[in-house]
Amino acid sequence: MKARLSQSFLFLAFIILIAPLQATDTFKEEQTMFGRAVRASQNFCYQVMAKTFWDPLMRGFKPGRVIAITELDIQPDDKVLFVGEGTGLDFEVLPEDLNKTNLQAFDFSPEMVKQAKLKAHQFNIPEENIFIGDAQHLPFKDERFDKIYFPLSLASIPNPTLALQEAERVLEKKGRVVIMEKLIDDGHQPSYLRQLLNFFTKFIFADINRNLTQMLGEGSSFKIINYQSLEGKLSGFFARRIGASYRIATLVRINDFPELEAQGAKLSQKTKTD
Ligand SMILES: C[S@@+](CC[C@H](N)C(=O)[O-])C[C@H]1O[C@@H](n2cnc3c(N)ncnc32)[C@H](O)[C@@H]1O
Repeated sequence: MKARLSQSFLFLAFIILIAPLQATDTFKEEQTMFGRAVRASQNFCYQVMAKTFWDPLMRGFKPGRVIAITELDIQPDDKVLFVGEGTGLDFEVLPEDLNKTNLQAFDFSPEMVKQAKLKAHQFNIPEENIFIGDAQHLPFKDERFDKIYFPLSLASIPNPTLALQEAERVLEKKGRVVIMEKLIDDGHQPSYLRQLLNFFTKFIFADINRNLTQMLGEGSSFKIINYQSLEGKLSGFFARRIGASYRIATLVRINDFPELEAQGAKLSQKTKTD
């Protein structure tokens, strides 16, 4: 009994000590052993979740997906890229008049891609447009897409800065990027409890403590032109409870729109991030 107590104590102490260390301020985690373990565990979890409970669990995010797709402002002939598409839950909220042959969607998890391919048939999306890929190394030439969407994927990508740089590279002039994600707002710090929780969530599905301005980094030409909270906007038991942590951000290259005054990643209304 005593041995078990001291083992539990040591484990807790280890977690408490390591929590601040694994905060993602450089996103170079994948090069470390810790990062590789996180990655392997997360991949395994996504493989399992894709074929079991992912779709029912995420059903309540549909209103968020509608807002995100509306923000993308997709025109019928736009070339669209979905990054980390998962099982394809966004397909059903695409505008009906979109030329679906111009949509490309990919994910790192083979099982997620398998499920998305099954859904693609339903929505007349060519199966070959859904593929396994890595957001950090896109297999496309520069300025290839008018609209790029990260549906709840940026927090799972090991190096989100690299993924955003790739998005910037393949984005057509005057294109836009929309991100739906759990984010820490500028000027806020995750609570210690949230940092602790992050230790576990990273191994299962995502880093829950990322900040968009930090992920963009200093060299980015992206500016955030819209940033909104999903608090009170999601449906269902699960999504409604966690909706307050989620944001939808719209990015453009500011050089493409000199008339736009970037408003920065600050919410005018008070938001709850924990
Ligand atoms: C939280 S899930 C979201 C899935 C789906 N977009 C949705 O909204 O239901 C995050 C997804 O990002 C994918 N992912 C993680 N790292 C990735 C990478 N480097 N490139 C592409 N997808 C990645 C995962 O496999 C997973 O499917």
